[in-house]
Amino acid sequence: MKSHIPLIVGNWKMNPATLGKARKLFLDTRKEIGRKKLETQIAVAPPFPFLSEMQRLSPSQRIGLAAQDVFFESIGAHTGEVSLPMLKSVGVSSVIVGHSERRAAGETDEEIYKDIQAIFKSGVTAIVCVGEKARDAQGNYFGIVEAQIRSAIRSIPKTKLKQLVIAYEPVWAIGTGNHATAEDVHEMKLFIQKIIADQFGRDAIKKVRVLYGGSVKKKNAHALLAVGQVDGFLIGGASLKPKEFAAIIHIAESHGKGTL
Ligand code: 13P
Repeated sequence: MKSHIPLIVGNWKMNPATLGKARKLFLDTRKEIGRKKLETQIAVAPPFPFLSEMQRLSPSQRIGLAAQDVFFESIGAHTGEVSLPMLKSVGVSSVIVGHSERRAAGETDEEIYKDIQAIFKSGVTAIVCVGEKARDAQGNYFGIVEAQIRSAIRSIPKTKLKQLVIAYEPVWAIGTGNHATAEDVHEMKLFIQKIIADQFGRDAIKKVRVLYGGSVKKKNAHALLAVGQVDGFLIGGASLKPKEFAAIIHIAESHGKGTL
Protein backbone atom coordinates (compact mmCIF):
# COMPACT_ATOMS: atom_id res chain seq x y z
CA MET A 1 0.00 0.00 0.00
CA LYS A 2 1.37 3.44 -0.88
CA SER A 3 2.31 5.24 2.28
CA HIS A 4 0.93 8.62 3.28
CA ILE A 5 2.70 11.90 2.67
CA PRO A 6 4.86 12.30 5.78
CA LEU A 7 3.62 14.66 8.47
CA ILE A 8 6.10 16.18 10.93
CA VAL A 9 4.72 18.18 13.84
CA GLY A 10 6.85 20.08 16.34
CA ASN A 11 5.23 20.38 19.74
CA TRP A 12 6.98 23.28 21.44
CA LYS A 13 5.12 22.59 24.71
CA MET A 14 5.63 25.51 27.17
CA ASN A 15 8.60 26.90 25.22
CA PRO A 16 10.26 29.27 24.52
CA ALA A 17 9.99 31.83 27.32
CA THR A 18 9.09 34.96 25.35
CA LEU A 19 7.47 36.09 22.10
CA GLY A 20 10.83 37.38 20.89
CA LYS A 21 12.37 33.96 21.37
CA ALA A 22 9.41 32.27 19.69
CA ARG A 23 9.82 34.53 16.69
CA LYS A 24 13.50 33.62 16.47
CA LEU A 25 12.78 29.91 16.83
CA PHE A 26 10.19 30.06 14.07
CA LEU A 27 12.39 32.05 11.68
CA ASP A 28 15.43 29.84 12.35
CA THR A 29 13.29 26.77 11.78
CA ARG A 30 12.01 28.17 8.49
CA LYS A 31 15.55 29.00 7.38
CA GLU A 32 16.89 25.54 8.23
CA ILE A 33 14.05 23.81 6.39
CA GLY A 34 15.09 25.79 3.32
CA ARG A 35 13.27 27.07 0.29
CA LYS A 36 13.05 23.86 -1.70
CA LYS A 37 9.50 22.67 -2.19
CA LEU A 38 8.78 19.65 -0.01
CA GLU A 39 6.05 17.05 -0.11
CA THR A 40 6.37 16.49 3.60
CA GLN A 41 3.75 18.36 5.60
CA ILE A 42 5.19 20.41 8.43
CA ALA A 43 3.50 22.02 11.41
CA VAL A 44 4.55 23.53 14.69
CA ALA A 45 2.48 23.87 17.83
CA PRO A 46 3.59 26.97 19.74
CA PRO A 47 1.99 28.09 23.02
CA PHE A 48 -1.35 29.92 22.51
CA PRO A 49 -0.05 33.49 23.04
CA PHE A 50 2.41 33.11 20.15
CA LEU A 51 0.04 31.68 17.55
CA SER A 52 -1.09 34.84 15.80
CA GLU A 53 2.48 36.13 15.46
CA MET A 54 3.54 32.78 13.98
CA GLN A 55 0.65 33.08 11.52
CA ARG A 56 1.97 36.50 10.51
CA LEU A 57 5.43 35.01 9.95
CA SER A 58 4.12 32.19 7.76
CA PRO A 59 1.34 33.57 5.58
CA SER A 60 1.83 30.77 3.05
CA GLN A 61 1.30 28.14 5.76
CA ARG A 62 4.31 26.27 4.44
CA ILE A 63 4.84 25.61 8.09
CA GLY A 64 1.33 24.90 9.31
CA LEU A 65 0.10 25.89 12.73
CA ALA A 66 -1.12 23.42 15.30
CA ALA A 67 -2.54 24.06 18.76
CA GLN A 68 -1.43 22.08 21.80
CA ASP A 69 -4.95 21.70 23.18
CA VAL A 70 -8.48 23.05 22.85
CA PHE A 71 -11.72 23.32 24.83
CA PHE A 72 -14.81 21.80 23.17
CA GLU A 73 -17.21 24.69 23.86
CA SER A 74 -17.08 27.43 21.26
CA ILE A 75 -17.73 30.54 23.36
CA GLY A 76 -18.84 31.67 26.80
CA ALA A 77 -18.01 31.65 30.48
CA HIS A 78 -15.06 29.23 30.51
CA THR A 79 -12.22 31.10 32.16
CA GLY A 80 -8.81 30.07 30.96
CA GLU A 81 -10.03 28.01 28.01
CA VAL A 82 -9.42 28.44 24.28
CA SER A 83 -11.96 27.50 21.60
CA LEU A 84 -11.79 26.19 18.05
CA PRO A 85 -13.18 29.37 16.45
CA MET A 86 -10.42 31.32 18.23
CA LEU A 87 -7.76 28.91 17.04
CA LYS A 88 -9.06 28.90 13.47
CA SER A 89 -9.09 32.69 13.43
CA VAL A 90 -5.32 32.70 14.00
CA GLY A 91 -4.58 30.13 11.30
CA VAL A 92 -4.56 26.87 13.24
CA SER A 93 -5.27 23.88 11.02
CA SER A 94 -4.62 21.00 13.42
CA VAL A 95 -5.01 20.45 17.14
CA ILE A 96 -3.12 18.08 19.42
CA VAL A 97 -5.61 16.31 21.70
CA GLY A 98 -5.05 14.12 24.73
CA HIS A 99 -1.32 14.68 25.03
CA SER A 100 -0.01 12.65 27.97
CA GLU A 101 1.04 15.87 29.71
CA ARG A 102 -2.59 17.06 29.55
CA ARG A 103 -3.83 13.65 30.68
CA ALA A 104 -1.36 13.80 33.61
CA ALA A 105 -2.83 17.22 34.47
CA GLY A 106 -6.25 15.57 34.83
CA GLU A 107 -7.76 15.50 31.34
CA THR A 108 -10.12 12.55 31.04
CA ASP A 109 -11.05 10.26 28.12
CA GLU A 110 -14.51 11.86 28.17
CA GLU A 111 -13.12 15.38 27.73
CA ILE A 112 -10.84 14.15 24.97
CA TYR A 113 -13.84 12.59 23.24
CA LYS A 114 -15.76 15.89 23.40
CA ASP A 115 -12.74 17.85 22.12
CA ILE A 116 -12.46 15.49 19.16
CA GLN A 117 -16.16 15.82 18.35
CA ALA A 118 -15.78 19.62 18.30
CA ILE A 119 -12.61 19.43 16.20
CA PHE A 120 -14.29 17.21 13.61
CA LYS A 121 -17.22 19.58 13.33
CA SER A 122 -14.90 22.54 12.84
CA GLY A 123 -13.03 20.97 9.92
CA VAL A 124 -9.53 21.03 11.40
CA THR A 125 -7.32 17.97 11.91
CA ALA A 126 -7.22 16.16 15.24
CA ILE A 127 -3.84 14.75 16.28
CA VAL A 128 -4.95 12.32 18.95
CA CYS A 129 -2.20 11.22 21.34
CA VAL A 130 -2.25 7.75 22.86
CA GLY A 131 0.36 5.74 24.70
CA GLU A 132 1.10 3.64 27.74
CA LYS A 133 2.89 4.86 30.86
CA ALA A 134 5.07 1.75 31.05
CA ARG A 135 5.68 -1.47 29.16
CA ASP A 136 5.05 -4.78 30.90
CA ALA A 137 6.06 -8.28 29.85
CA GLN A 138 2.40 -9.35 29.48
CA GLY A 139 1.65 -6.81 26.76
CA ASN A 140 -1.05 -4.98 28.73
CA TYR A 141 0.06 -1.77 27.03
CA PHE A 142 -1.79 -2.87 23.91
CA GLY A 143 -5.04 -2.88 25.88
CA ILE A 144 -4.30 0.59 27.26
CA VAL A 145 -3.66 2.04 23.80
CA GLU A 146 -6.72 0.29 22.40
CA ALA A 147 -9.01 1.66 25.13
CA GLN A 148 -7.68 5.19 24.58
CA ILE A 149 -8.25 5.00 20.83
CA ARG A 150 -11.68 3.38 21.00
CA SER A 151 -12.91 5.95 23.48
CA ALA A 152 -11.49 8.85 21.44
CA ILE A 153 -12.79 7.85 18.02
CA ARG A 154 -16.16 6.36 18.82
CA SER A 155 -18.86 7.88 16.67
CA ILE A 156 -16.54 9.68 14.26
CA PRO A 157 -18.25 9.73 10.86
CA LYS A 158 -16.36 7.67 8.32
CA THR A 159 -16.52 10.53 5.84
CA LYS A 160 -14.31 12.66 8.10
CA LEU A 161 -11.50 10.20 8.68
CA LYS A 162 -8.99 12.27 6.74
CA GLN A 163 -9.12 14.70 9.65
CA LEU A 164 -7.87 12.02 12.03
CA VAL A 165 -4.21 11.50 12.92
CA ILE A 166 -3.20 9.12 15.71
CA ALA A 167 0.08 9.87 17.46
CA TYR A 168 1.51 6.94 19.39
CA GLU A 169 3.53 8.51 22.18
CA PRO A 170 4.57 6.05 24.88
CA VAL A 171 4.86 8.16 28.01
CA TRP A 172 8.11 6.50 29.08
CA ALA A 173 9.75 7.63 25.83
CA ILE A 174 8.78 11.31 26.10
CA GLY A 175 11.68 13.58 26.93
CA THR A 176 13.79 10.69 28.21
CA GLY A 177 16.09 10.02 25.26
CA ASN A 178 14.70 6.51 25.41
CA HIS A 179 12.72 6.03 22.20
CA ALA A 180 10.69 2.90 21.41
CA THR A 181 12.52 0.54 19.05
CA ALA A 182 11.58 0.74 15.40
CA GLU A 183 10.29 -2.87 15.61
CA ASP A 184 8.07 -2.07 18.59
CA VAL A 185 6.77 1.01 16.81
CA HIS A 186 5.96 -1.07 13.75
CA GLU A 187 4.08 -3.61 15.86
CA MET A 188 2.08 -0.80 17.47
CA LYS A 189 1.36 0.82 14.13
CA LEU A 190 -0.14 -2.43 12.83
CA PHE A 191 -2.15 -2.78 16.01
CA ILE A 192 -3.52 0.77 15.68
CA GLN A 193 -4.42 0.13 12.04
CA LYS A 194 -6.27 -3.01 13.07
CA ILE A 195 -8.38 -0.98 15.51
CA ILE A 196 -9.15 1.55 12.76
CA ALA A 197 -10.02 -1.22 10.30
CA ASP A 198 -12.23 -2.96 12.89
CA GLN A 199 -14.27 0.17 13.39
CA PHE A 200 -14.37 1.68 9.91
CA GLY A 201 -13.38 -1.05 7.45
CA ARG A 202 -10.02 -1.76 5.81
CA ASP A 203 -10.09 1.17 3.38
CA ALA A 204 -10.06 3.53 6.38
CA ILE A 205 -6.39 2.65 6.96
CA LYS A 206 -5.48 4.71 3.90
CA LYS A 207 -7.05 7.81 5.40
CA VAL A 208 -5.71 7.81 8.95
CA ARG A 209 -2.09 8.72 9.54
CA VAL A 210 -0.20 7.17 12.42
CA LEU A 211 2.68 9.18 13.91
CA TYR A 212 5.24 8.27 16.50
CA GLY A 213 6.43 10.59 19.28
CA GLY A 214 8.93 10.15 22.09
CA SER A 215 12.60 11.16 21.87
CA VAL A 216 12.64 11.39 18.08
CA LYS A 217 16.02 12.67 16.88
CA LYS A 218 17.74 12.80 13.54
CA LYS A 219 19.74 9.71 14.51
CA ASN A 220 16.67 7.50 15.01
CA ALA A 221 14.29 9.09 12.49
CA HIS A 222 15.19 6.98 9.51
CA ALA A 223 14.75 3.62 11.26
CA LEU A 224 11.46 4.73 12.79
CA LEU A 225 10.17 5.59 9.30
CA ALA A 226 11.69 2.69 7.38
CA VAL A 227 11.19 -0.12 9.91
CA GLY A 228 8.59 1.47 12.18
CA GLN A 229 6.58 2.40 9.08
CA VAL A 230 5.01 5.42 10.73
CA ASP A 231 3.67 8.27 8.63
CA GLY A 232 5.62 10.93 10.50
CA PHE A 233 6.46 12.24 13.94
CA LEU A 234 5.24 14.37 16.81
CA ILE A 235 8.44 15.92 18.10
CA GLY A 236 9.04 17.69 21.40
CA GLY A 237 12.62 18.55 22.41
CA ALA A 238 14.13 18.30 18.93
CA SER A 239 11.59 20.80 17.56
CA LEU A 240 13.23 23.47 19.72
CA LYS A 241 16.50 22.95 17.82
CA PRO A 242 15.98 24.23 14.27
CA LYS A 243 18.87 22.30 12.72
CA GLU A 244 17.83 19.02 14.32
CA PHE A 245 14.14 19.54 13.48
CA ALA A 246 14.94 20.43 9.86
CA ALA A 247 17.24 17.40 9.58
CA ILE A 248 14.36 15.14 10.64
CA ILE A 249 12.08 16.81 8.08
CA HIS A 250 14.64 16.22 5.34
CA ILE A 251 15.00 12.57 6.36
CA ALA A 252 11.21 12.19 6.16
CA GLU A 253 11.19 13.87 2.76
CA SER A 254 13.86 11.51 1.38
CA HIS A 255 12.07 8.56 2.90
CA GLY A 256 8.75 9.64 1.40
CA LYS A 257 10.34 9.91 -2.01
CA GLY A 258 12.16 6.61 -1.64
CA THR A 259 15.55 8.28 -2.01
CA LEU A 260 17.01 7.20 1.33
P1 13P B 1 10.11 14.53 23.06
O1 13P B 1 10.37 14.53 21.57
O2 13P B 1 10.80 15.66 23.78
O3 13P B 1 10.38 13.19 23.68
O4 13P B 1 8.54 14.83 23.25
C1 13P B 1 7.61 14.10 22.54
C2 13P B 1 6.28 14.71 22.74
O5 13P B 1 5.71 14.67 23.80
C3 13P B 1 5.67 15.40 21.59
O6 13P B 1 4.33 15.68 21.81
